[in-house]
This record gives sequence, C-alpha cells and structure tokens, in this order.
Amino acid sequence: MSIADRIQKSMAQGSWVRRMFEEGVSLKRQYGEENVFDLSLGNPVMEPPVEFHQELKRLAENPSPGMHRYMENAGYPETRAAVATQLSLETGIKFTMNDIIMTCGAAGALNVVLKTILNHGDEVIIFAPYFPEYINYIDNHGGIVRILPTNEQFIPKLDILEATVGAKTKAVLINSPNNPSGVVYSEEFVRQLGELLSKKETQYGTQIFLLSDEAYRKIIYDGLKYPSPLPHHPHSIVVTSHSKDLALPGERIGYIAVNPACSQQKEVIDGFIYCNRTLGYVNAPALMQHLVSRLQSVTVPVAEYQRRRDFLYDHLSEIGYSVMKPQGAFYMFPKSPLADDVALVRELQSWRVLTVPGSGFGTPGYFRILYCVDDRTLEGAIAGFRKAAQKFNLC
Ligand SMILES: Cc1ncc(COP(=O)(O)O)c(C=O)c1O
Repeated sequence: MSIADRIQKSMAQGSWVRRMFEEGVSLKRQYGEENVFDLSLGNPVMEPPVEFHQELKRLAENPSPGMHRYMENAGYPETRAAVATQLSLETGIKFTMNDIIMTCGAAGALNVVLKTILNHGDEVIIFAPYFPEYINYIDNHGGIVRILPTNEQFIPKLDILEATVGAKTKAVLINSPNNPSGVVYSEEFVRQLGELLSKKETQYGTQIFLLSDEAYRKIIYDGLKYPSPLPHHPHSIVVTSHSKDLALPGERIGYIAVNPACSQQKEVIDGFIYCNRTLGYVNAPALMQHLVSRLQSVTVPVAEYQRRRDFLYDHLSEIGYSVMKPQGAFYMFPKSPLADDVALVRELQSWRVLTVPGSGFGTPGYFRILYCVDDRTLEGAIAGFRKAAQKFNLC
C-alpha cells in the first residue's frame, strides 16, 4: 500500500457525518432528491448577505493593481485592522491588527495554532460531544487528545477538568456555540474556566492556552450576548471564520485572534504566521480578505435560523423526544430513544431522514439533527421522526 498506515487506518474508520452524507447521496439517487430529508452535513442553506454581493461587484468593477498577488503571510493589514476593530467592540478588549492572522477558515486556523504550540506528546483537552475533526487536527501535529465529559446540559465538568489538567496540558479547546449540542457557555462558566486554567498554570509553571473555536459566535438566539472567554484568561486564542456568519464555507476565510494580554505574544503570533506559510496555506484567499474587510459587522439573518430551531424543537418535544433547546449554532442533539444511537439513525434513515449518531461526536445515546436546511426538508422530516418515535413507544 502506497499511503501511510495511519492515514489508511483513519480513512477506514471514517467519519459518521461523511458516511451519512454519502449514504444520503445514494438514497437521493434511488428515491429522488425531494423524497430524502438530509439533516446530516453542516452546509448552510442561506446565501451570503446582499452586502457580500455588492462588495464583490464593487471589487470586480474597480480592480486595484496587485490585488491578487502574494501578500504578508498574516494577511492584508486593512483586513486585520477591520477584524481587530470589530473584535474590540464585541469583547471590550483592545485588539490591533498585530493580534490578528487571516486564515483558510476556522479549520485552517486550528491547524496553524496546533502546529505552532504542540510539542510531540503535548495534551489537548476537548469535551464530548465535540466537533469530530478536532481529533484529526490534534493528531496532525503530534498532540495527544484527552476527551472529557460534559453534564446533562452539555457543559464541561470543571471538577473533572481540574483533576485532568497536568504538566503536559498545552491547550483546552472549547466550542461555544457548540456543534453538535447548540449550547452557549455562560459568562460565569467561562470565568470559572479561565480562573481554573490560570491556577493550573501557576501550579505547574506552564502556559495553558484556552483555544476558543467560535465558528458559530454570531449564530446566537433569543437576544443572548456572546460571553467571550477572552477577558478571563490571558493565554486565550480565538479561531473563527465567516463560513457560518456570512454563509461562505466554500470560500475558506477565517482568522486567529490572540489575546493582547498573552505573555510572549509576539513569539506566538510570529509562530502562527510562520506555520500559516509552512503548512502550505501561505495566506488566506486574497479576494475574500478584500471582501470581508467591509463586512465585519454584517451577519446572515439569524432570525431565519431561530425560526427553524423553534419549528424543530416544538415538533420534537411534542412527539416526545427529550431535547435541549439550542441557544446557538444550527444543530440539535436529542437523546436517542434507543440506547443504540446508530440503530435509531438507521431507523430514521428507513424513513429517509438523515441524521448523525451521537457516537460520531463521542457521545453515544444521542443523535445530531442539523436544521440549516430549507423549510421543505425540515417539514418533510417530521413524519419520519414521528414514525421512529412510535416504533420505540415514545408517543
Ligand atoms: C465547531 C466547528 N469548528 C470549525 C469548523 C470549520 O469551519 P471552517 O469552514 O471555518 O473551516 C466547523 C465546521 O463545520 C465547526 O462546526
């Protein structure tokens, strides 16, 4: 075999999200697109906001010389300055362009950060349920993943975290609003988390990064204000993108922001810039950087996602599923009425409703439903949820 053993092994294990997506493709071929209700892969149904197209048109009609050339690996100064201004407004922390590196999405940002900070064998703590790619990204850079549990509300258990953080802990990776649970961590939680990490740093004489994956920061409901972890831990780093808030996942545009209070901040930033280059990203896409410079305060209509959340939550609850109402992102993570979440997902599949078993997110006994789909798909799926519930005596 010409490919590396570890890649072969990890490809064979596959990802549940991808597997369901691929099975969905074949079901659609068999039954017709309109008869399959695909709630598996997180591709937002919404188009980018009108301001995006206006800006795209303006740039196309007024090209400036050199606008498609190589640039500084950190990205355009004006784009980084625009991100810094917006982030300062949102967090109350004074960011400058020197704290920002533009990246190829949040995925690129995470890989740049992990490549830069991890020595072989360093540990990164994540919490189940988690975004499954974290395991690959940590492994990409020689890290050891430690997976810790959350409580019934999907909030990390701080007593277990306290007992787990050790001399080898290099980072704690959090994701709020969370994929797959939709939970948003409270101000009090992020305060306690920051305090715990600072205490552990003193105990071990180390630096422990709080790595905050904020891919869904702006997809937040019921007028909630996003509680940023940044004020609560100096060694905090934000990774995010415009994949969800501007509905641009295919354009690969995101950024890293490093807390200005981070010690050895310049060394950390220089490391990120270097790794952005050596990982082969070189820089974030030029055209997208030009575009998002003027779109920092623009977001897709979040009320549209909230409407879908309410529709799905009301129906699932009425049918009898036990489900926590998400506060952000566009996923729901109900309890499976069967202990075997894969069997439940298979049953739903027999009604042509595609979801993903909680096992794929490190949390068996649950399943993930994605609701950033068109109304027809969401409405069409309800009958399948009802049939499965009837079969398992939920209603
Ligand atoms: C929690 C989380 N982090 C990161 C990403 C990667 O997003 P991007 O498209 O910005 O790379 C995703 C994508 O779905 C995600 O759900």
